[in-house]
Amino acid sequence: MDSIKIFSPATVANVSCGFDVLGFCLDSVGDEMVIHKTSEKGIKITKIEGYDLPYEAKKNVAGVSALAMYEALQPDCGFEIEIYKKIKPGSGIGSSSASAAGSVYGMNELLGRPLNKTELTKHALKGEALASQSEHADNLAPAIFGGFTLVRSINPVDVIELPTPKDLFATLIHPQIEIKTSEARALLPNSVELKKAIAQWSNVGSLVHALHTSNYDILGKSLNDVIVEPYRKLLIPHFDTIKKTTLDSGALGCGISGSGPSIFALSKGKEDAEKVEKAMKKVYSKTEIPFYTFVSKINTEGIKVL
Ligand code: HSE
Repeated sequence: MDSIKIFSPATVANVSCGFDVLGFCLDSVGDEMVIHKTSEKGIKITKIEGYDLPYEAKKNVAGVSALAMYEALQPDCGFEIEIYKKIKPGSGIGSSSASAAGSVYGMNELLGRPLNKTELTKHALKGEALASQSEHADNLAPAIFGGFTLVRSINPVDVIELPTPKDLFATLIHPQIEIKTSEARALLPNSVELKKAIAQWSNVGSLVHALHTSNYDILGKSLNDVIVEPYRKLLIPHFDTIKKTTLDSGALGCGISGSGPSIFALSKGKEDAEKVEKAMKKVYSKTEIPFYTFVSKINTEGIKVL
């Protein structure tokens, strides 16, 4: 096999309480990439459709993760990468991670899978770092492993796969403004009050428990972020109204997706998730801000060959 086409999914990082550690994988939105094995050595990006991104491998997220893996493995061939970008950069649903994960996943398949998912995450982290100026794997891990993941450590990379309750659905609204992850990170304080830290880690623990036991009530209560959301919500127009309306219309919980501006809600059942979508639409329809919404089941498979 010399060429492969893959689907690299969008993801929701943080999941409210789990800044930089929790994430889950979406189903209905993602990039496509085609990777070719070549006799000429090196990594080349030969096509980019959808958004205006750099072709030079060292400046492109997919290129940087591909180069990290290439240097580690030193294969006797090269790779050409085509990127069909569907996830808007700066949307908060793991656009850079989809690119970073896609190139290493595709190369690994073409090489006969010498690396496991943890090793792929390690190389993809280099690409993610180019985009956000920090290494965090909470979008990469769910893209590569699927479902819900907890990144216990990034050095060394240690990802824990969490179970997905079967009736869980996500609703997303993406206001069409761009928030750079690096800027949304620069807003955050360097230290955290102990009281807030206690609230946050109790929510992370109870969210993990809720996923293991399919306890939707505890899941909803755990979707609470007292550390990051208060700073970042100021960048997202009408965040509080969306959150209130979503919860009033039956969502289990609601929060900022990754570093925003997208907002996610989790619901029990598709019907509730669609009600929540309608409620989100109603709020933003009254504004001048263009937006789109979608409902997605949780993608337990993650990145895949098409
Ligand atoms: N955990 C990251 C953040 C995800 O919130 O900054 C965004 O890439």
